[in-house]
Amino acid sequence: MPLRYSHHNGERMRILVVGSGGREHALAWKLSQEAEVVVSPGNALSRRVFASLGPFNEEVVVSGGFDLVVVGPEDPLIDGLADRLRAQGVAVFGPGAAGAQLEGSKAFSKEMMARSGVRTAAHRTFTEFEPALAYGLAQLEQGEGLAVKASGNALGKGVILCRTPDELQDALHGMMVERVLGTAADEVVIEQMLRGYELSLMTLVGDHNMVSLPIARDYKRALDGDRGPNTGGMGTFSTPDWPEAGVLGQVEADLVAPMIAQLQRDGIPFRGTLFTGVMMQDGVPYCLEYNVRFGDPETQSFVRRLGKGFAAALLAAAAGDPIPPIETLDHAVVSVVLASEGYPGAYSKGHPIQIGDLPEGVEVFGAGIGARDGGLVTNGGRVLAVSAVAPTLADARARAYAATESVDFEGKTLRTDIAAN
Ligand SMILES: Nc1ncnc2c1ncn2[C@@H]1O[C@H](COP(=O)(O)OP(=O)(O)O)[C@@H](O)[C@H]1O
Ligand SMILES: [Mg+2]
Repeated sequence: MPLRYSHHNGERMRILVVGSGGREHALAWKLSQEAEVVVSPGNALSRRVFASLGPFNEEVVVSGGFDLVVVGPEDPLIDGLADRLRAQGVAVFGPGAAGAQLEGSKAFSKEMMARSGVRTAAHRTFTEFEPALAYGLAQLEQGEGLAVKASGNALGKGVILCRTPDELQDALHGMMVERVLGTAADEVVIEQMLRGYELSLMTLVGDHNMVSLPIARDYKRALDGDRGPNTGGMGTFSTPDWPEAGVLGQVEADLVAPMIAQLQRDGIPFRGTLFTGVMMQDGVPYCLEYNVRFGDPETQSFVRRLGKGFAAALLAAAAGDPIPPIETLDHAVVSVVLASEGYPGAYSKGHPIQIGDLPEGVEVFGAGIGARDGGLVTNGGRVLAVSAVAPTLADARARAYAATESVDFEGKTLRTDIAAN
């Protein structure tokens, strides 16, 4: 069926943003500068600003007559939501199930990297504990350590870095024998540990071209100094001064363009975001992983570095048209996540949230937020992010941290070193 592409010049575009997190709130915030935005379901804070379709329902989405549907999270994409909506004539930003396997299966993703010549850590994939252990023990002799990765979607808990035989044995035993991650570890990838700095590059991909967004740096660990367990992300920054000139072009040429070409050769359509997780080792980019949607909390930062043209770019990608360039802004952004005490482990919910006066240049993007008695209450591990812009990274950081003082709830927890080094 041909795409319904009803947007005409002069008419205000109507966009539905699917999802409830901080990423989706930030997307809605940016898109609303150029379009009418509806969220489904959104969170209690984003629903104060945007109309909501209520709980996500495919039939309601199809009958809503939106010019564009932007799918935020990976799970529905892996599950084929974009295919189903497209089959009913809806213009969707987000890949179908086949393309989403780049995120849904690390084993598939590694195979695609090998076939397209994308540089990544030396690795092998296993389904049995004994051969995995034998390979891992031999590989441990060759380098500094290993990353053991559950192939399936393990909600950010599927990667264990190992430096000793005991750590390796525990990681493999947990995933493959005790099966603590369930079917997510039916296949396990073992790879050499890389060393360097990480960056997140998000690239809009359409049928004809790609357009990369401003690079962001993500802070994944729970505690200052990159200690503690991995989380969904505790903060991000984006600035034109980082990373050094040339890195973007290098990552696009080495890790992004070859994968897009491989998808095309394999006949896998991809209209959405290709998120490349990169480790820069000795000036050379390695692909850690691909995701198939915008990063959270990278989005809370990159949207604030965009000027005009984001809505038109997403619409063009979704419609199969050439993606036009997007204006970018030369200031710095720092986003700091306020989490519930205990996250990413167990935490309590339902604590009232107060948001006071915010410094200039600050936006608040809600995530795990619910409503009670007309007020806002905590309803998740990552509660919200404050995002500040300023001419320099140091100023944006100072503003963001000043803003964290204007937000209060019981158990408020944050990293104090986002964008500090
Ligand atoms: N080969 C590797 N060498 C060093 N660190 C790694 C390696 N692979 C993953 N990591 C670390 O683990 C984190 C999570 O790995 P990733 O592949 O991005 O999985 P996911 O995001 O699905 O949990 C990365 O951001 C990185 O910090
Ligand atoms: Mg990752």
